[in-house]
Amino acid sequence: MPIPGNAHTPLSFPADFLLGSATAAYQIEGAATEDGRGPSIWDTFSHTPGKTWNADTGDVAADHYHRLDDDLDLMASLGLRAYRFSLSWPRIQPTGRGPANPKGLDFYSRLVDGLLARGITPVATLYHWDLPQALEDQGGWTNRATALAFADYARIVGEALGDRVAIWTTLNEPWCSAYLGYGSGAHAPGRTDGAAALTAVHHLNLAHGLAVQQLRAVTTNSPQYSITLNFHVLRGHGDGAAEAVRRIDALANRAFTEPLLRGHYPKDLLNDTASVTDWAFVQDGDLTDIYQPLDLLGVNYYATTAVRLWDGTSTRQNNDGHKDMGGSAWPGSPQVEFLPQPGPHTAMGWNIDPDGLEELLLDLHTRYPEQPLVITENGAAFDDHLTTRPDDTHAVHDPERVDYLHRHLAAAHRALTAGVDLRGYFVWSLMDNFEWGYGYSKRFGIVHVDYETQRRTLKDSALWFRELALTRTLPPTAPVSAPPKLGASRG
Ligand code: FCB
Repeated sequence: MPIPGNAHTPLSFPADFLLGSATAAYQIEGAATEDGRGPSIWDTFSHTPGKTWNADTGDVAADHYHRLDDDLDLMASLGLRAYRFSLSWPRIQPTGRGPANPKGLDFYSRLVDGLLARGITPVATLYHWDLPQALEDQGGWTNRATALAFADYARIVGEALGDRVAIWTTLNEPWCSAYLGYGSGAHAPGRTDGAAALTAVHHLNLAHGLAVQQLRAVTTNSPQYSITLNFHVLRGHGDGAAEAVRRIDALANRAFTEPLLRGHYPKDLLNDTASVTDWAFVQDGDLTDIYQPLDLLGVNYYATTAVRLWDGTSTRQNNDGHKDMGGSAWPGSPQVEFLPQPGPHTAMGWNIDPDGLEELLLDLHTRYPEQPLVITENGAAFDDHLTTRPDDTHAVHDPERVDYLHRHLAAAHRALTAGVDLRGYFVWSLMDNFEWGYGYSKRFGIVHVDYETQRRTLKDSALWFRELALTRTLPPTAPVSAPPKLGASRG
């Protein structure tokens, strides 16, 4: 049987389908103390011994802050139709409150102008995890005031860029912010308190709703509004499979989709977590604020998650795909265990399961048929090797990443064909970057970054993705050769 999307059976995406790449501020920008930027929780966390691999920090990262124009040219050379980036809140409001820092806003204004000048659609995320440390010092996302501060920040950014950004995303993966940040301790601020995690869930949902309202009030170019969630596609095992799946689906997925898209918290979520919190932090009117019409729902997908009810005797397994830092990301559900999954795996240890993406898109379409979707992240880390050619140019041959992307794009295409209103696909990531707790040990880029020299080298996957972006048709999985002018090495 031919592989879908090879030369024999080309798969084409619609003319207005957004094919782009994604990054996040703290992961690529560097310049952590420049031009008035204040510290974020990720600065504090990464500078705390034992929190990140090799004590890596985002101080320099891929130095994107200083290489903006070159990186914009790089995106243009890849034929990207859209670029998803995030804004650093502490670059714009160093303490999370008060007047805007003009230099911070100026950086993002130049970024947006640079994208538009190159015909690339700007997709801006307001929050990809870098909370101003000053707000964390007052309780962070466990403090309702943080949601209100976020609304003010949204207004400031909307006033500055609200004539040019095409798609606004309020939050990236609030699941990670809440449960890894306040529950398991794997992410900043590194707290391990289940009640705090659930409080954060609600305040993040509220922050989203308030921010959408603020943006709507000030934007002038009729943009689209969205939020990006990392869905857990669950595989249940054992006698209690359905119960294990139901519990984790409530905590991980429906804790966000139901208030955002239906205006209420699921009853089973409230019951499951009753021993952890009474949810008294939900105030009258909050759900009305949260329940804002969304033009797009952003979907991040990498792997599936296997769950089983724990029998209480054997050692409880905790293979939920994240670093074990002592706490639990699953408040109220200690009876669920997370099983290792069969391969193949990426360098993150995450299983490769493109069918999971198709199932997720179909499931979301069934649950929320009116809701347009966009894949805002999908991609893979592998152990890449930079090779030097005789003429001193460089290359990275990454057939596994090309194969991963090909299979997931084919899965997305199947969902599209089945009637899912899917508007685009963003590969994670444009370039190698600071992979949170894993520091620089994991490379997700389609562009290789040499952190010593900051030289960018197009991996084979970047050349492959360029052909996809330019033709809107899935190219073959065999490595694509570089056209003469662009070469495989830059910088
Ligand atoms: C997602 C994050 C992104 C990156 C990828 C690998 O959870 O949004 O920043 O770390 O995983």
